[in-house]
Amino acid sequence: MEEEVAMSAVRLCKSYDEGSSTLEVLSGIDLDISQGSTVAIMGSSGSGKSSLLQLLAGLALPTSGKVMFGGQDLAKMRDSELSMLRNQEVGFVYQFHHLLPEFTAAENVAMPAMIGGASYKESLHLASSLLGQVDLEARSNHLPSQLSGGERQRVAVARALINNPRCVFADEPTGNLDVKNALIVSDLLTTFSEKSGITVVVATHDPVVASHMSLCYEISERRLRLLAK
Ligand SMILES: Nc1ncnc2c1ncn2[C@@H]1O[C@H](COP(=O)(O)OP(=O)(O)OP(=O)(O)O)[C@@H](O)[C@H]1O
Ligand SMILES: [Mg+2]
Repeated sequence: MEEEVAMSAVRLCKSYDEGSSTLEVLSGIDLDISQGSTVAIMGSSGSGKSSLLQLLAGLALPTSGKVMFGGQDLAKMRDSELSMLRNQEVGFVYQFHHLLPEFTAAENVAMPAMIGGASYKESLHLASSLLGQVDLEARSNHLPSQLSGGERQRVAVARALINNPRCVFADEPTGNLDVKNALIVSDLLTTFSEKSGITVVVATHDPVVASHMSLCYEISERRLRLLAK
């Protein structure tokens, strides 16, 4: 059976306007990512990993070229469709957990479900089930400030998954963690991918995290190349 393409980049270019000059970050990137695959994007600091993730996730627009997501050209989608896509089809995990400090772990996880229209009760029910899956049921009612760094990142993973997305984008999700917690978080991402067929795209400096993904790319001199396993 032919693999379903989750998203594609076609001749993708990104430049940033710097007043009198232009900084070209990505130049002619072509990439197909299969549904359910796990992909690492590596490259030195400033090489364009976060820029590429933002383009693939529809959070930024390319200078030229296009991103097809689930067969749709992101640039041709209306704002309301893009918002729906960000809420329903994709999940995000960042280096800094971005949890809301005044809400409990469970409420933070529940937030995207409530934004998507689910009731408070239903959302919290789903959130506690997910917190169980990331081994944090006992910490559900704690505030982010009462959790360790590794626990906060697991909450962030649960939050990214609550709307049952097709794809999770993670930008340096283990950048703030020690080796043990980095492995726990990358294992969670790959386990959810295997279990639910979620596509995972991770920007990372960490070769160990990258080695857990099925494919590994490197951005160098504005281009993307596949690294041999
Ligand atoms: N909004 C912006 N405006 C101008 N320049 C930007 C903007 N965002 C990123 N850049 C520049 O584009 C280049 C690529 O940045 P990007 O954040 O994509 O790199 P990265 O590979 O994620 O780096 P890191 O590993 O440090 O996170 C950098 O030189 C950065 O300074
Ligand atoms: Mg980055």
